[in-house]
Amino acid sequence: MEVIIMPDQGGCAIVAATIAAQVIRDNPRAVIGLATGSSPLGLYRELVRMHKDEGLDFSMITTFNLDEYIGLSPDHQASYHRFMFDNLFNHINIPEEQVHIPYGLAQDIPAHCREYEQAIRDAGGIDIQVLGIGSDGHIAFNEPGSSLSSRTRAELLAEETRRDNSRFFDCLEQVPSHAITMGVGTILESARCLLLAFGRSKAAAVAAAVEGPLTSMVSASALQLHPNTQIIIDEEAASLLSRREY
Ligand code: F6R
Repeated sequence: MEVIIMPDQGGCAIVAATIAAQVIRDNPRAVIGLATGSSPLGLYRELVRMHKDEGLDFSMITTFNLDEYIGLSPDHQASYHRFMFDNLFNHINIPEEQVHIPYGLAQDIPAHCREYEQAIRDAGGIDIQVLGIGSDGHIAFNEPGSSLSSRTRAELLAEETRRDNSRFFDCLEQVPSHAITMGVGTILESARCLLLAFGRSKAAAVAAAVEGPLTSMVSASALQLHPNTQIIIDEEAASLLSRREY
């Protein structure tokens, strides 16, 4: 793992966007894995700016999102589908048919998850996967106890995660109990991973992921096994690490 510590979130977003843009310039048909939530927002703003100001071309890329709430329609104001179109896809030139987001209203969820995995394989695998980290150490929605070889599936959300994410809903009761998530094993197959984390509330999870034992109780610790992962964090998120360089 390479750990990159920047003074603030804005600097992290620029580093992450520079890496992602280079992947796209090197391979205009790149397959990009995307996350939702607060952590990648600055990255997405910067990619939109690069598209508008520098002509960064997204017309041939393919994307796969990490997760979606079960029970929310794509146009629900808190769905990850809506989040991605509001914050990225509506502002760049990616054709909609090249966007993949798990479908929260799928009738047969196990079949949908198998198809999602197959679609990733058919696309040639993920070249770069953007990740956030939950305060409980999850990546995607692989909650504590998720097998490190898990695949895309339905997952019960931890109470801590539902509380953390209730800010996107009117109240805690509206936060769905389950989500479809790529598995830890699915994520580990990406050629490259970029994990973003900001703020004091992520410091313990970051320290557990980077320095803690490899454990299914902190799914982000599985990234220690990944040969090409960069952790891009601000000073506050780095505050519980025992070293500045790895
Ligand atoms: C979202 C996802 C989650 C988030 C994590 C952090 O697609 O995969 O693992 O990255 O919960 O969320 P934020 O960035 O909102 O703190």
